[in-house]
Amino acid sequence: MRSFDVIVIGAGAAGMMCAATAGQRGRSVLIIDHAEAPGKKIRISGGGRCNFTNIHTTPQSFLSQNPKFAISALRRYRPADFIALVERHGIAYHEKTLGQLFCDGSARQVIDMLLEEMRIGGVTLELGSSVESIEPTDSGFVLRLPDGPVAGASLVIATGGKSIPKMGATGFAYQVAAQFGVPVVEPRPGLVPLTFEPGMLERLRPLAGVSVDARVCHGKTAFREGLLFTHRGLSGPSILQISSYWREGDALAVDLAPRTDTGQWLAEARARNGRQSILNALSELLPRRVAELVVTETGVSGNLADMDRKAMEAIIAAVSGWRIKPVGSEGYRTAEVTLGGIDTAALSSTDMRVKAVPGLYFIGEAVDVTGWLGGYNFQWAWASGRAAGLAV
Ligand code: FDA
Repeated sequence: MRSFDVIVIGAGAAGMMCAATAGQRGRSVLIIDHAEAPGKKIRISGGGRCNFTNIHTTPQSFLSQNPKFAISALRRYRPADFIALVERHGIAYHEKTLGQLFCDGSARQVIDMLLEEMRIGGVTLELGSSVESIEPTDSGFVLRLPDGPVAGASLVIATGGKSIPKMGATGFAYQVAAQFGVPVVEPRPGLVPLTFEPGMLERLRPLAGVSVDARVCHGKTAFREGLLFTHRGLSGPSILQISSYWREGDALAVDLAPRTDTGQWLAEARARNGRQSILNALSELLPRRVAELVVTETGVSGNLADMDRKAMEAIIAAVSGWRIKPVGSEGYRTAEVTLGGIDTAALSSTDMRVKAVPGLYFIGEAVDVTGWLGGYNFQWAWASGRAAGLAV
């Protein structure tokens, strides 16, 4: 039977980082993936340019039942460490916005870099390979693969979450967790567009394709980024960000003009030209179709000079405190990440090992650590992969 010090299941971001790190420490490493190519999500990430990290990464940019869990791994492998690796491989990059670093060229460069790092570490990569079973043994684990059994002293599960099943996401990590009695925080789609009931959708339909700069709030959590009206509801970075905090039944407050004090702006507009229609005035503040929505939703019409206090307050509320109640999300079909996952209470925060199962590790998106949009999820994949790679 073939035997390795380390077997990694999942040749995605976290798995490849872990395998390269362990291989370069002199460990014999096998990494397997059921896909025909490694790093499929890296390839499509960041619109094909891979937003590979965020220079403003802090533990506060991550959601987890234990917000402190990620601190150790993130501290020991920082954005600067990954940037140094990228630079060593001669990959040109740029900051797009809000600390988000993208390749100038293609995400393929990041995959090639990880493959090269694995090659340096002498890692064996096997693609198109599914795990039929995992059996614990006295010295580790035996995996049944289609072409026979293989033994590993350490086993690292790096199969990601459930997001985008079309791309091969399986929820395999949760099955392994169940087999070994490791608790799982219920997974749910994150960084995902939100949907609305048919009546609201009908009212929003004319706006499909329109985007605005917006501030979207859920309780005390707020994101100010683009908001996009779609045929199904709302999307864009601010909505994707807040979707990770939103739960069924919750309302969201949207400021459609976050740069402006709408009350003051309306008062000034009225003082300047009271005979201007409310719709025309609002069209200077918002895209025309959004202004039309505000006017329709509030039922306020006429000129600025005609507005009484109540009408003014209705407009201000609709522009700066638009309350929306999504009915759901687009689900795993389009979710960029999976929230929840392997309960961090079962893992060591220094090296991702399962405390109760010697030799078993979970890393990356499979774990209940989920980053904001903007390169944070890859930084978690690199950091957790590196942490386990140094320990296996
Ligand atoms: P990942 O999903 O990358 O890898 C898991 C691997 O396991 C896959 O190769 C899969 O084929 C394999 N696998 C699954 N089940 C298996 C099984 N049963 N047997 C064998 N192999 C199995 N993040 C970010 O920081 N910046 C960005 O720009 C983007 N952009 C982006 C775009 C899109 C469209 C999506 C869907 C996601 C992003 N993300 C992102 C999120 C990011 O891609 C994600 O968080 C990481 O890829 C997670 O890395 P992992 O290695 O944990 O899982």
